[in-house]
Amino acid sequence: NHGIGVLTSGGDSQGMNAAVRAVIRETLRQGHRCYLIREGYTGLITGNIDQATWEHVANVTHLGGSMIGTSRCDEFRTTDGRKKAAKIMFDRRIFHLIVIGGDGSLMGAQKLKEEWGRFGEELFAEGKITEEVANEGRELHLAGIVGSIDNDCIESDKSIGSDTALHRICEAIDGLVMTAQSHQRVFVVEVMGRHCGYLALTAAIAVEADYVFYPEIPPDDKWPEQLCHQLESVRKYGKRQNVIILGEGVTNSKGMKIGGKQVKEEIETRLGLEVRIATLGHLQRGGAPTFLDRLLGLRMGHEAVLCVDKLEVLKTTEDVGSPIAGQKTVAQVMCLRGHNIERNELSRVIRQTETANEEMQQRNYD
Ligand code: F6P
Repeated sequence: NHGIGVLTSGGDSQGMNAAVRAVIRETLRQGHRCYLIREGYTGLITGNIDQATWEHVANVTHLGGSMIGTSRCDEFRTTDGRKKAAKIMFDRRIFHLIVIGGDGSLMGAQKLKEEWGRFGEELFAEGKITEEVANEGRELHLAGIVGSIDNDCIESDKSIGSDTALHRICEAIDGLVMTAQSHQRVFVVEVMGRHCGYLALTAAIAVEADYVFYPEIPPDDKWPEQLCHQLESVRKYGKRQNVIILGEGVTNSKGMKIGGKQVKEEIETRLGLEVRIATLGHLQRGGAPTFLDRLLGLRMGHEAVLCVDKLEVLKTTEDVGSPIAGQKTVAQVMCLRGHNIERNELSRVIRQTETANEEMQQRNYD
């Protein structure tokens, strides 16, 4: 009988509740204890943890947000913070952990995993945990689930929440198009996504936008001319409105952020058209999850429990000789590939995502 803990971390995303529900159900079905770690890593550090029961799984799949709370926890970014979290986990005998969050949250989980053996030894040496507990918890069984509207994990086709965010964006723009059409206006619509252009680019295709700015391909210095030329040519064919999607994190060739105000001014000055800016903001993270995010959350949550439960011991380690010497497991992350959920080594996926982001920044500033 294991104690399997689950937490959501970073920005919430629609479908996280479905994932938590599946984690609770599968954990209880396997006869293990399930712990709800509240408010993300903050709850792990402060011990804000409750044992889940079957009552926690009813009427949650359709709800947006995270029913167990989430946070961006600065303390967990520090070694001291992660050691406090480890102490709580040893005290509660939670040696199986499922983290649902974006790249930053999963990176934090991987750090905890890497430091776990050392934390155990130190806590034992400091007399804060007994030898029995240290031995019982010598391995941290860790699985990650990518929950973020940004869809910025390199190995997964879809993160939980990105489909719903796109649905919200499309709904909002469908509404804007009607008023834009009446007034023959241009709308610059700012969308989220941080350093990833997935929401901007795919929404632009789906709403028939006339122009899109997204971080992966930063516009060159001629963007005002190109943009205005594009608007002029579609207006010539009788189009009464234009939608321009501006992804978050878009910079110019000098690395300066391009904002809606700048885009608006360029169009108004060059073409004399009336422009309005719509910042969709956290509406994109709001509301009920789509069918796809519900199903994805449920499937990922179920798979993550199977994963931590059966995580194979890979090798014995250099720690042999210490009271908590032993074997090592490798943290995994659940990724969608086509229609299948695959497990990938978490450290590798984090490295690849970091490298891709660095390469993108390098390329953009060259
Ligand atoms: O990572 C998800 C996300 O919604 C990003 O798209 C956005 O940049 C950020 O979170 C907003 O964060 P917060 O909710 O903390 O303002």
